[in-house]
Amino acid sequence: MLTCFWSPKGGSGTSVVTAAVALVAARDGATRLADLVGDQPAVLGAASDPPTGMREWLRVGVDAPVDALDRLSVEIVPGVTLLPAGRAPIGDVAPEAGAALATALRDDPRPTLADVGVPGSSAAEAMLEVADASVLVVRGCYVALRRAVRMAPTARAHGVVLVEEPGRALGAREVGDVLGLPVLARVPVRSQTARVVDAGVLPTRLPEQLARPARQVLARLGGAGHEGRAA
Ligand SMILES: Nc1ncnc2c1ncn2[C@@H]1O[C@H](COP(=O)(O)OP(=O)(O)O)[C@@H](O)[C@H]1O
Ligand SMILES: [Mg+2]
Repeated sequence: MLTCFWSPKGGSGTSVVTAAVALVAARDGATRLADLVGDQPAVLGAASDPPTGMREWLRVGVDAPVDALDRLSVEIVPGVTLLPAGRAPIGDVAPEAGAALATALRDDPRPTLADVGVPGSSAAEAMLEVADASVLVVRGCYVALRRAVRMAPTARAHGVVLVEEPGRALGAREVGDVLGLPVLARVPVRSQTARVVDAGVLPTRLPEQLARPARQVLARLGGAGHEGRAA
């Protein structure tokens, strides 16, 4: 089972939401967090950024061995394995390689939650196509929503996680209507969440205001991430 999280615009909360969903899913069994961007070590409070990861795998292309993904992985907390991004550029990687990576992640018995960030490459877009579920993470930001409407992966997404900032005019109903997608969960912007991330202690002190919507996402996508494909 592969669930990809992505956003039309950086700074939306995609990396934090993906990490939270992986940490919650791990309470039901071994879970993988696949980072295509490179921010997960920081979000999870890891001491260093692994230099090699999925980006190098993608550059090798469709013939890259599936078991190499396990050799690239590092355990972050018991039950959560990080498949790191690595450092290679992927702008020119063929979509077939992205599809092959997503197929390898999808066909593994462990649930994989992927942080795709802003999908700016053919490989990333191919991953979103092959994934069992694709979830947009957006704030109630008109600029981001307008951008999302123009992006190809939006039409095939399964739903939205709305990161709610105080003072925004656009609420869950408007966001769902504009994108034509169900709002799976709402994540409040809270200074406590930002502080926990900045202190590098998210895995051990996941705030309930983040854990609750993470559980809702898993439930709405079909069980605890360990079951079949989302509708
Ligand atoms: N629910 C939240 N409450 C408060 N701050 C948040 C929340 N989600 C994310 N942030 C903060 O917002 C910034 C951007 O989040 P991030 O997950 O890196 O966004 P993205 O991956 O979409 O670029 C980070 O500083 C992060 O700590
Ligand atoms: Mg990010």
